Amino acid sequence: MVSLATSLLSLLGLASTALCSVLARDVTTTTVIVPSTSSSSPYTAATPGTPVSPKILFIANTFEFGYLDAYNFTTQYTGNLFDKVFACTEDGVICKLECGEELVSASQITALMLIPGVDLRKSYVIITGTGGVNPKYGTAGGVAISTFGVQWEWGSMFLGDDLPANFSGQYFSAYAQLSPDKYPVTVGSEVYKLNEALVDRFYAVGSNVTYEEVSETVQNLRATYEFEAARREPFLARCDTVSSQVYWSGNVAGENVEYYTDLITNGQARYCNTNEDDQGRLLALFLGAVHHLIDFGRVSVIKAFSDYDRPPPQLTAYQSRFFVGEAATEPGLRNAWKTIEAVVDDVLGNWDTIYEAGIKPNTYMGDIKGTLGGVCDFNSTASAAKGSVQGS
Ligand SMILES: *[C@@H]1O[C@H](CO)[C@@H](O)[C@H](O)[C@H]1NC(C)=O
Ligand SMILES: *[C@@H]1O[C@H](CO)[C@@H](O)[C@H](O)[C@H]1NC(C)=O
Ligand SMILES: *[C@@H]1O[C@H](CO)[C@@H](O)[C@H](O)[C@H]1NC(C)=O
Ligand SMILES: *[C@@H]1O[C@H](CO)[C@@H](O)[C@H](O)[C@H]1NC(C)=O
Repeated sequence: MVSLATSLLSLLGLASTALCSVLARDVTTTTVIVPSTSSSSPYTAATPGTPVSPKILFIANTFEFGYLDAYNFTTQYTGNLFDKVFACTEDGVICKLECGEELVSASQITALMLIPGVDLRKSYVIITGTGGVNPKYGTAGGVAISTFGVQWEWGSMFLGDDLPANFSGQYFSAYAQLSPDKYPVTVGSEVYKLNEALVDRFYAVGSNVTYEEVSETVQNLRATYEFEAARREPFLARCDTVSSQVYWSGNVAGENVEYYTDLITNGQARYCNTNEDDQGRLLALFLGAVHHLIDFGRVSVIKAFSDYDRPPPQLTAYQSRFFVGEAATEPGLRNAWKTIEAVVDDVLGNWDTIYEAGIKPNTYMGDIKGTLGGVCDFNSTASAAKGSVQGS
């Protein structure tokens, strides 16, 4: 952290010659978080088929669980095609899935739902972990609870001079768009809208939690952003998550993702969280809901902000991504888990009166095609360019 501070303070006011040596020096001292590689399992293996029906299921990457110590997970369950960790508290009330990222998560959540004895139909699923923050809506070290999950994955791309003149971004929807403002042809997994009434409740509960401050280095950095939200102390934001296997950074990418998110949800979603996890998780859970293995109305996304998705004015996107890096990962994760613990207390404390029966969605919930029923309130008639392979 000390050397990070040195480099950052230098970056804030340095000319480029001096910059190189600062940057070079810092490469070797950047903190890397390595998942535990202990070979002896800390869990007792459950006999295959042992029933468990948790009230809470956390989904995150292995290292992110390193910041959670409020519960003791003692019992591990395994099944076919399942090679991650699914472990529960002794009473089986709270479980965690350490599942890897995006596509890997999707396969592992699917395998989890098929483990004999594991019943997730009443589980409140909390997807968590870290992501980058759009400085317009949140701040590093803060947390967000989301209503929308958007996939920035299913597309076409042209680079450099190959880009048609009337498009400012490199990203196109999968099927030919005439112009960036036309609603694209979709495949179905582009957007999931969660239970907004559950988001309301969790947001109210989480807003009561007191957050830890970020390092002085990050405080100095955030003061240089032009957006009010970015300059704030860590807080719980209410805005949406966008994920892709590619972790994008910078103003151009950030603006493009915002544009796409706005277009694909007809202005309903506000993009604030960039990550490589969430849509794979939502996709698998959604399919589980279609097949009645889980209740999609009990799924939530509560995530930490480890860094900014774009630089402040005095840095380039490259400097921001690779040399400021994910400097708020640790306080962010601790703040996210604090929020989640408050939510868990609310769920367990009000299980009989509120949560067992479930909280009814107050707006449309589901995918872009209306697969779970109801009328999708954010889609539009799709159009592909006339004469294109997919157009009419
Ligand atoms: C977890 O287990 C350890 C060791 O038995 C114990 O000291 C600790 O208090 C437990 N924590 C919780 C939250 O139950
Ligand atoms: C945008 O560019 C494409 C490719 O050159 C072209 O086919 C399309 O008509 C243009 N759209 C508009 C709205 O100008
Ligand atoms: C927030 O905390 C206050 C004081 O502890 C409590 O009275 C209130 O019910 C809490 N609100 C929520 C939504 O949990
Ligand atoms: C929008 O959602 C409705 C279901 O509410 C569905 O019938 C329709 O096909 C969807 N439109 C698109 C373009 O996906």
